This record gives sequence, structure tokens and C-alpha cells, in this order.
Amino acid sequence: MLDYTDRHFRVLMRQISRHSLLYSEMVVAQALHHARQEPDAAKRGERLERLIGFDPIEKPLALQLGGDDPGLLAEAVGLAADWGYDEVNLNLGCPSEKVRKGRFGACLMADPHQVARCIEAMAAASPLPVTVKQRIGIDDLDSYAELLNFVDTLAAAGCRRFAVHARKAWLDGLDPKQNRSIPPLRYELVHQLKRERPKLTIEINGGLQTLADCQSQLAQVDGVMVGRAVYDQPLRWARVDSDIHGDHSAAALARSEISPSMVLRGLLPYADEWCRGGGKLWPIARHLVHLVAGVSGARRWRQSISQEAGAKSAGAEVLEAAALSLEQRGY
Ligand SMILES: Cc1cc2nc3c(=O)[nH]c(=O)nc-3n(C[C@H](O)[C@H](O)[C@H](O)COP(=O)(O)O)c2cc1C
Repeated sequence: MLDYTDRHFRVLMRQISRHSLLYSEMVVAQALHHARQEPDAAKRGERLERLIGFDPIEKPLALQLGGDDPGLLAEAVGLAADWGYDEVNLNLGCPSEKVRKGRFGACLMADPHQVARCIEAMAAASPLPVTVKQRIGIDDLDSYAELLNFVDTLAAAGCRRFAVHARKAWLDGLDPKQNRSIPPLRYELVHQLKRERPKLTIEINGGLQTLADCQSQLAQVDGVMVGRAVYDQPLRWARVDSDIHGDHSAAALARSEISPSMVLRGLLPYADEWCRGGGKLWPIARHLVHLVAGVSGARRWRQSISQEAGAKSAGAEVLEAAALSLEQRGY
């Protein structure tokens, strides 16, 4: 999710789940191409690092790409493979005006053949699995037959998994936020898709709030993707490795009872390395606000961490002190 699931948030989530596949924010293929054209090698490395850099602890990790040009997308896939991503995912669900002007995101659902050309070029560029994130439809192209035709066309082109946001997008008239809540969720269409195309790997997305929601979906589809409920309630997912991924090791058991201070302590080595390398603490600390949902005194804790982590010279010791203050209160 743009502006949310950046590398720092993903490291935070890895304290909670080792097995769930994490996705990057959408990275525009053309931006990667421009970064590669930078003549100065050091600047080129910095630009690419900003766009697609990640810490190995984030794996398994998918790079989500935006674009509609097979050549640029193939180039981006080559980069993803070189950098060690586990999968590349093409964004066919974003309805924003800006993305639409670039002719990618959800508007591409109107042109399955162009998307198929993209998928073919991406699949030929590396051994990485190529997957998509799509809607059940857009505007008036919202019948089940159109959804099936779209998926069949992409499957024939080499798409290996379909993550389907189970609501259509209205490209005219609704903004991106409204497009994540106003069109109704139609899970039954995704279930039907799986029933009629049992050999395809179908993942459902949209409105899933709890592990129980996910478990009930998994009776009908191959996978679940959760966005906002993970960002807003990271600790709600503490049992995901044991209950969904079937990991009953001692380590997974310990993670299933992880506390906010344990998450913070787990982040310390990463935060320390990041700050020593010249990074600011705030981009990491900004993701911590939701960790303390339900903790007494959470508001004061948030205020204090915002103030202290925002200081220019702030380092990992700020997180350590914040962990200690939670531990002293039993969290
Ligand atoms: C702030 C925000 C940014 C998002 N950015 C992306 C994105 O970059 N790529 C993408 O495929 N979906 C993006 N989404 C959509 C989510 O992936 C997801 O499809 C949607 O929020 C519905 O799932 P949920 O109810 O589990 O959040 C974004 C959603 C939000 C709220």
C-alpha cells in the first residue's frame, strides 16, 4: 500500500509473521527505467535503493509494479530478480486519476490483450513468478463473464496467481478512497472464479478484518491478502504463522504471543543499522502508532515517541527507551 507498506513497516511485520508473503508499495516501471539511466553510478545506486531497496529479513517479498509497457516492465522484472525479490506483481487495481493518466492500474482491465503482452514480457524476463492484483471489474465492464475472460487471457499469458480485490472500481466519479469502500464487496464472484478455474491460484482481497475471516475464505480460495487491517492492527495477526501457515515451532508459538515491546525490541538491530547508515529514525517510528492500540496510556506514549523520534539526531536508543516504558507497564 502506497505510503504505508514501505521497507520499515515490512520489517515491523516480520517480527509478527515469518511466513506471510509481503508486498512492496507500487513502484512505477518507468521510474526504475529513469533511475537506471542515471550516469553517475553512486547516484544511480542511491536512486534504485530508494525505489526498491529492502532488508533480507523482509523476504518472502513481492515487488509490485505499475506500468503498461511490456519492455519497461520486463526491464523492471530483471531488476527485481537481480535485487533478490521473490515475485513480481502487476498492479491492475489502482483507480487513482494520476495512475490512470499514466495508463496503468485498474484502467488496464479494459484491455486484457495489452495486459497479456505485459505478462508475457515479464514472465520471459526472469524465472520469478509473475502475479497480478486486480479488481473484479471496472465501470460497466463488471460482469462475471468479463472477469472470467480477463483472468483466462492473463493465465494463458503466464500469470501465476490472481489477487482479486472483490469490489469493482468506478474510474469516473469515485476517488481512490471511495473506491475502497463504496462499491460493494462481492466475494461470491471470486469464489465462483476459483470453482470454475480450479487449476488457477486465486487469492481474495478486500474487507478482511480477522484471522477468522481469512480462515473462512480459505475454505473457498487459495490465498488471502489483507491490507488496511494489518496496517491498523499489526498485533491482531500475531497467530498468523501458527494458525494459517501451520508453523507450530517454539519460535512461531512465541511470536503468537508477541507484545508491543517485543516488537520494538525485535526492531532495534534494524533501526540501529539504519540510523548508523545515515537514515532518520522517524520513517521507522511513524509506523509504531498502531502497535499500542488498546494499551493504557497509549496516547501519551505516542506523543512522546513522535516528539523524540522526530529529532534529527534520534537513533535506536529512542525505541529502546520506548520499549522499556512499555515493559514497565506490562506490555
Ligand atoms: C493507503 C492505501 C494505499 C494502497 N496502495 C496500494 C498499492 O500500492 N497497490 C495495490 O495493489 N493496492 C493498494 N491499495 C489497495 C489495497 O491493497 C487493498 O486492495 C484494499 O485496501 C482492500 O483491501 P483491505 O480491505 O484489506 O485493505 C492501497 C490501499 C490503501 C488504503
